[in-house]
Amino acid sequence: YYVRHFGKSFAEQEFIVTGSGMHAIQLALDAVAGKGDEVVYLSPAWPNFAAAAGVAGAVPVAVTLDQSGNGWSCDIGKIEAAITPRTKALFVNSPSNPTGWTADRETLQAILDLARERGLWIIADEIYSLFHYGDSRAPSFIDIMADDDRILFVNSFSKNWAMTGWRVGWIKTHPSLQQVFENLVQYSTSGVAQFMQRGAVVALDEGDAFIVEQVERARAARDLVCGILAATGRARFTVPQGAFYLFFAVDGITDSRAAAFDIVDRANVGLAPGTAFGPGGEAFLRLCFHRRLDQLEEAAHRLAKWMKSV
Ligand SMILES: Cc1ncc(COP(=O)(O)O)c(C=O)c1O
Repeated sequence: YYVRHFGKSFAEQEFIVTGSGMHAIQLALDAVAGKGDEVVYLSPAWPNFAAAAGVAGAVPVAVTLDQSGNGWSCDIGKIEAAITPRTKALFVNSPSNPTGWTADRETLQAILDLARERGLWIIADEIYSLFHYGDSRAPSFIDIMADDDRILFVNSFSKNWAMTGWRVGWIKTHPSLQQVFENLVQYSTSGVAQFMQRGAVVALDEGDAFIVEQVERARAARDLVCGILAATGRARFTVPQGAFYLFFAVDGITDSRAAAFDIVDRANVGLAPGTAFGPGGEAFLRLCFHRRLDQLEEAAHRLAKWMKSV
């Protein structure tokens, strides 16, 4: 899988199988951060990361992405300013849930340079890396890292392979933490059922055509929804470059939580309010477009009608 998609091979002992991407994130945090330590993450963000930091006893510190007419971007100076002597790790989710922000190679390099300079771990959540609408995959820390860089890659079968209910993921560890992760798995779940691991291996070995099909459907879905919402003249968004979420604002709407409830009641469409994704997300709504196109078309038209009514 790594040779085919990233042009790089790793030794098998560098991998630890976990009981989901979520479990991988929790173990990565347990391994590098403890009580009172700080972990910096980019916000708006999938909320489970900050919650997992709390479970590990650490303090999640949000650095907001900037948004301008041409998309979301990451200001390295803001990350630098958020680092304190207690900071242990930077958590980078690219492509991002919920914004679709996808770090380019230069941004990844700047984050890596900063982590090297300050002696920080990077927890890289690249679980949507194959859901990329430019090249066949998103830029990755794998493209620029040296073998001894302190990067932990968390991964999951939930997205690229649509195996969400299987609850299987993995971590690509760092040699210095291999034994730590073996212990963390031993003392949390003692491993993932063997028959599930066999299914996951088949996905890795034979799943490429399935992924291509999924990504093409998601690309068509993204374009369909963006087109219908843009035609209202009331939606503000940047077309996501990765993952399968549209994070959009509606002119005049500031309370996204109240709006999400109203949309359920009056349009019968379920969206996640931006308030769930932390600082920087408050005014937005998140729409997951990884659905059947006919369902999405119907949902997008209902949403457009709702927008025109408020
Ligand atoms: C950015 C991100 N990381 C990790 C996960 C975890 O996925 P899972 O626990 O289903 O493997 C998700 C799921 O939504 C996610 O969006």
